[in-house]
This record gives sequence, C-alpha cells and structure tokens, in this order.
Amino acid sequence: MEMRITLRVDGAQHEVTVDTRTTLLDALRDRIGNYSPKKGCDHGQCGSCTVLVDDRRVTSCLSLAVAQDSRDVVTAAGLSDEGLHPVQQAFVDTDAFQCGYCTPGQVCSVVGMLDEAGQGAPSHVTEDLDAEVELTDEEIRERMSGNLCRCAAYPNIVAAIRQVRDSAPADREGARP
Ligand code: FES
Ligand code: FES
Repeated sequence: MEMRITLRVDGAQHEVTVDTRTTLLDALRDRIGNYSPKKGCDHGQCGSCTVLVDDRRVTSCLSLAVAQDSRDVVTAAGLSDEGLHPVQQAFVDTDAFQCGYCTPGQVCSVVGMLDEAGQGAPSHVTEDLDAEVELTDEEIRERMSGNLCRCAAYPNIVAAIRQVRDSAPADREGARP
C-alpha cells in the first residue's frame, strides 16, 4: 500500500509517495536524495542513520516514513545555514573522525543528547535524579552509546562533546533551520 506524505527536511518541504513499509532512512536517501544519514546496520544498532525529528534524535532506519508525516526532520547536513554548527566545528577541532561514515549520525546524536541533558533527562548512569545533569565523561559515553564508530574515534568524540559542553549556551545552540 502506498501513501502520499509531506516531510520537511532541513527546512525544505517534500511531498513523496512511499510504500507504507518504507523507512524514514530510505525515504530520505532514495526518494529525497539526502545522503547525509548513513545506512550502517539497518537494524537500529549502529546509530549512523540518526537524524532529529521534531528536535529529538531518532534512528531513521527504525522509523517508518509514514509515521513522520508533516514532521520536521533535520539531518547533519541541515544543522546550520552558514558555516559549521558548533558540534560540527568541535568534531573538526578535536579530530573526532577518521573515515567519517558514522559522523553525521554522531553529530545529530550529540545535538539531541545535549538537549536531553539540558532538559534534565537522566541516563542509565545518572546517580542523583533530582540534581542538574552533569555531563561527565561517563554520562557522555552512556548517552552516546547508541552511536558506534568502527574507526574507534571515541576519545576524540568525547573531547568534541566536552568542547561544546564547556562553551557558552548561546554558542552551543548554533543555528538551526
Ligand atoms: S543504520 Fe540505523 S542504526 Fe544502523
Ligand atoms: S569515523 Fe569511521 S566509523 Fe566513525
């Protein structure tokens, strides 16, 4: 069965007809031609397909495109209109990638994760649920554990997140479409 849906991707409106079984990842790549989110495992296990849907991080290989009808999807390519988003810049500054295949998913995940932590959402390793979330290295690793990097750039990815964590709040938000 096919359905016509509207997806707003990186600020642009797209009307596409998709089979109801089509994932958001396949709709983005195969129908809209947005190759920023990468297909790694296609099973929700590597995080390379992570995008933001209505500001929350989502593994797009596990989401049906029809479930995202009329929602706002942001990929790593659409995080900033001018220059690099602060999270992208931090990845460059700290050399947080090698082949770069996982990087768009990592970057989207960091943006979503910082929002979650900023709103006080606890993680599996948060000890005091009443205190403000402190993004220690342990918290960063736990919150980013859904994003794998086969090049093992993890130490520099954590360093990139520390750089953004320690920047001024206004700089941290960057420019979103
Ligand atoms: S491709 Fe989606 S989690 Fe691996
Ligand atoms: S930089 Fe190569 S998979 Fe992460």
